[in-house]
Amino acid sequence: MARYIFPEDFLWGAATASYQIEGAHDEDGKGESIWDRFSHTPGKIWDEETGDVTCNHYHLYREDVEMMADLGLNAYRFSISWPRIFPGGGGKPNLKGLDFYRRLVEKLHQHNIKPAVTLYHWDLPQALQDKGGWNNRDTANYFADYASFLFQSLDLPVDRWITLNEPWVVAYLGHAFGIHAPGLSDFSTALQVGHNLLLGHGLAVRRFRDAKRDGEPIGITLNLAPVQPYSDSDEDARAAKNTDGFMNRWFLDPLFKGTYPQDMVDIFSRAFTLPETSAGDDALISEPVDFLGINNYTRVLVKASASEDDFMGNPVNPSESEYTEMGWEVYPRGLYELLVRVHRDYGPLPLYVTENGAAFEDKLQKDKTVNDERRINYLQGYLLECWNALEQGVPLKGYYVWTWMDNFEWAFGYSKRFGLVYIDYATSKRYPKNSAYWYKKVISCNGLEI
Ligand code: FCB
Repeated sequence: MARYIFPEDFLWGAATASYQIEGAHDEDGKGESIWDRFSHTPGKIWDEETGDVTCNHYHLYREDVEMMADLGLNAYRFSISWPRIFPGGGGKPNLKGLDFYRRLVEKLHQHNIKPAVTLYHWDLPQALQDKGGWNNRDTANYFADYASFLFQSLDLPVDRWITLNEPWVVAYLGHAFGIHAPGLSDFSTALQVGHNLLLGHGLAVRRFRDAKRDGEPIGITLNLAPVQPYSDSDEDARAAKNTDGFMNRWFLDPLFKGTYPQDMVDIFSRAFTLPETSAGDDALISEPVDFLGINNYTRVLVKASASEDDFMGNPVNPSESEYTEMGWEVYPRGLYELLVRVHRDYGPLPLYVTENGAAFEDKLQKDKTVNDERRINYLQGYLLECWNALEQGVPLKGYYVWTWMDNFEWAFGYSKRFGLVYIDYATSKRYPKNSAYWYKKVISCNGLEI
């Protein structure tokens, strides 16, 4: 048996997002979010599902935190629903909404679980969408005001703050490909949205520094993927470089180098309208942060297409690989490559894997167990590569499984189960899967025994 032991202060967590787990969509003064609106629009979500009730975590959070404690977690990443705090986007705060998160954080502290708070995991107040949403530069200011309210009012220790979850997904899936809320399909709009999201991030970081929450770090979470060329041809290398520019560098460069990558500016400007910017935007966006959160699930392997400007390549799915229920290739080595590369090109900076996990077809057995061997193998493979990255000197400080419990998987509704804990949606009952017990063992050994 080989042992792979992690640093003593390594964080072992799991992650969730408000709209995916809370339910209580119109309770205690919460306003409508763009995901409430989108999921209630016919034809948008698999089987017309909504997050109205989902895991009912809003009412069952105590039981959820107790189960996290039983299963040994020492960290938990969750997001705050903006319209629970500001039902109209701005204006008067809803103190009942704030109280829910206070109670949750308090409960986590009682069980020695370190809370990581994400401020924006996609549930924009619909009232702001009605004013143009993220395509409107003002939304960045509303975001900073909302963030600032929390910095001042969430008067309990927070282990780390994350401004945005995956601005790439918000911009492109929501505004270029139409499959996420608000369901728009215009690439130039998506570019502007991406820029405004980054402005919101920078403004929130500045407000955070003003709030003087000493000792609490702030950062951002990006979805990143290692992009590899299918062959060693020059054409495939170019396609991979463009795709990497689109997927990774378009957000990493402005955040950590203070400028958009020139090759992508050239490519985008030939086909689309570039975002409107103002003097000072670059400095604002690259306001220094304390860490970077990385969400990674798979790799992107690309073949060239006819156009030299193509930045989405021709994705290839090798037939010999294993795939999850999302159709995502299981490729643990990619996480190692990504961590080493991000550290080399954008460091030095503490890194966290803020999401990693897999959807498989889980079945609740008669005896209420779920034998999710494939998830265990997936997580073990990816964690081993985290360990390898640590050996290479990458300052990886923690890892959060996506996700704590099965939940509303956006456009896929309840058809994809990513959780360590199985949810029976008919009864709201929770059943830890075998992967949850496996993770408990990993945490108690502070590493892997293979
Ligand atoms: C990420 C999201 C998360 C979840 C996983 C599967 O893009 O941040 O909410 O949907 O994918």
